[in-house]
Amino acid sequence: MHNAHSTAAESARNFSCYLADDSATLKFGEELSTYIHPGLTIHLIGDLGAGKTTLTRGILHGLGYSHTVKSPTYNLVEIYKISGVYFYHFDFYRFNDYLEWEEAGFREYFNSDSICVVEWPEKAGDLLPKPDLQLVLSILDNGRKIELQACTEAGIQCLKQWRNQKN
Ligand SMILES: Nc1ncnc2c1ncn2[C@@H]1O[C@H](COP(=O)(O)OP(=O)(O)O)[C@@H](O)[C@H]1O
Ligand SMILES: [Mg+2]
Repeated sequence: MHNAHSTAAESARNFSCYLADDSATLKFGEELSTYIHPGLTIHLIGDLGAGKTTLTRGILHGLGYSHTVKSPTYNLVEIYKISGVYFYHFDFYRFNDYLEWEEAGFREYFNSDSICVVEWPEKAGDLLPKPDLQLVLSILDNGRKIELQACTEAGIQCLKQWRNQKN
């Protein structure tokens, strides 16, 4: 479909490819946005600077959000409403404790009517529900490697549709 997938390694649950620059990361997010729907939770794993926020920006642009996408690092979440659907962009890098989670009422954000994208899910431990898709970003040469894993049936369906589109 495009260059980002030229070195793709695939199976039913997994997919990986090389993203040469930040526009490739944005494009990957935009493509992914076509296959996500309310109720889906996506975890983004990777060090600081790996490209998690850039990828989320691509997803939001793909969903039709045309304004600036800020990193939610300081307030843990940025909330968007796109065509009537709530989109929560979390960043738990600065997450401290369970009390913070309870007081903010984050649990209710993960529901069948909303889309949740989470940077640093590791920092929230087992508080988070299981993701449908997990994306791992790592620095490779001058670009990034991205590894996508479908963790639920909904995630597998999402990946399957993306593949069908490409073939
Ligand atoms: N595929 C890529 N190749 C090279 N640089 C990239 C790529 N994707 C994103 N970047 C750059 O990496 C930097 C950090 O990205 P960011 O999305 O803020 O990372 P994170 O949210 O994981 O900390 C940004 O300057 C961004 O432009
Ligand atoms: Mg970030």
